Amino acid sequence: MKKLWGGRFSAQTEKTVEGFTESISFDSRLWKYDIAGSTAHVTMLGRQKIISKQEAALIIKGLNEIRAEIESGKFKFSQALEDVHMNIESALIKKLGPVGGKIHTARSRNDQVALDIRLYLRDQISEAIQLIKKLRKVFVSLAEKNIDTIMPGYTHLQRAQPVLLSHHLLAYFEMLGRDVARFEDCLGRVNVLPLGSAALAGTTLPIDRHYVAKLLKFPAVSENSIDAVSDRDFVAEFIASSSILMIHLSRLSEEFILWNSEEFKFIDLPDAFTTGSSIMPQKKNPDVLELTRGKTGRVYGNLMSILTIMKSLPLAYNRDMQEDKEPLFDTVDTVKACLGVLIEMLPLVRFNRKVMEKATAAGFLTATDLAEYLVKKGVPFRDAHSITGRVVKYCIDNNKKLTDMDLDELKQFSDLIGKDIFHYISVEVSVDGKKSYGGTSREKVLVRIRKIKS
Ligand code: ARG
Repeated sequence: MKKLWGGRFSAQTEKTVEGFTESISFDSRLWKYDIAGSTAHVTMLGRQKIISKQEAALIIKGLNEIRAEIESGKFKFSQALEDVHMNIESALIKKLGPVGGKIHTARSRNDQVALDIRLYLRDQISEAIQLIKKLRKVFVSLAEKNIDTIMPGYTHLQRAQPVLLSHHLLAYFEMLGRDVARFEDCLGRVNVLPLGSAALAGTTLPIDRHYVAKLLKFPAVSENSIDAVSDRDFVAEFIASSSILMIHLSRLSEEFILWNSEEFKFIDLPDAFTTGSSIMPQKKNPDVLELTRGKTGRVYGNLMSILTIMKSLPLAYNRDMQEDKEPLFDTVDTVKACLGVLIEMLPLVRFNRKVMEKATAAGFLTATDLAEYLVKKGVPFRDAHSITGRVVKYCIDNNKKLTDMDLDELKQFSDLIGKDIFHYISVEVSVDGKKSYGGTSREKVLVRIRKIKS
């Protein structure tokens, strides 16, 4: 096939080279943005009298027809035409004749592809933000529904102190809030118009980049044409933000996989979101969560790809940069899929309140409350810690829980311990006492929920 850039070539491109260099097999997903960008560009060319108004109108009509053909599935993308940009431009020239060739006036594929990715990513980031916000809502409603459930809070995966399940769930709400902020921040840097940088130097033609920015709703125009065509920071930033989001989803997945196990039994996952084993009839596996955990690795891999692709690239555009798209697209697809399935599944998870509460009884979870009780009586915290440690050791040696101790036994360790201690080392009072800002008391958790909802 004759190439649009074939003028200076005397030999046809090798088939293997066509197969090796093509990107249409994955960049065809940018078609809508390519047409939108071209339409704005051509409108500007007409307005600036770089091409005539009639020519601009003809080209826009042609682009609209191509859009309809792609939408209806009639359009044939060809590998010999390399990428989405040249597929669409060739179709236009085929339709309009030489006038079609005016579309590429004052631009290059280097600024064109940068524009397409930015337009695409702008939409995708907005969608991702909407999904994260939905998932945050799920956590709030779970927290509200389970406001009376106490569970062991863990450090080192050892029972540490009793907490409200709601407080634990809202920890994810906070993480996801930072994810939203990161994506919004990233969006600000995606939202810059690169078009009009041409190959790398700008153009001698009297274009109006600010007008194009207005048409495409870009709040900013890139300042340096060399930077604009060689910048993929925004792709790396998006994948980095996605990686951090995936950290959060993987931690949630891991916890819920543990909690769903026979060993914990803190939750029951909904049947419709689990799968069976092909050999063990009794199994109900948490595959959705396992895959979310696994896909996290895939997104990190994409981050490593884009960072390594861009590393040490001399300015400006290099073909290496075509490799940005697959990790980007894969990240977009993966993040959206994980968020989507969690949004559906989490509201259906059953929390086993009794099991969680029973788990708070063993493990001396209120030992810190005993120490803080002594602190309130004037004992320096270090001493209070040591006294309480000895109480715990005594309990272990005598196979007792803290609440099994009678007052005389406790008084052997400190005569500051009074009968009101039994109040303070109950799990409920321990939780309710955590009234410090951001603490797990019911009062403070409800304050947070109210604030979130207002
Ligand atoms: N398919 C190319 C890419 O994705 C488009 C830009 C090609 N530019 C060039 N000078 N060959 O990067």
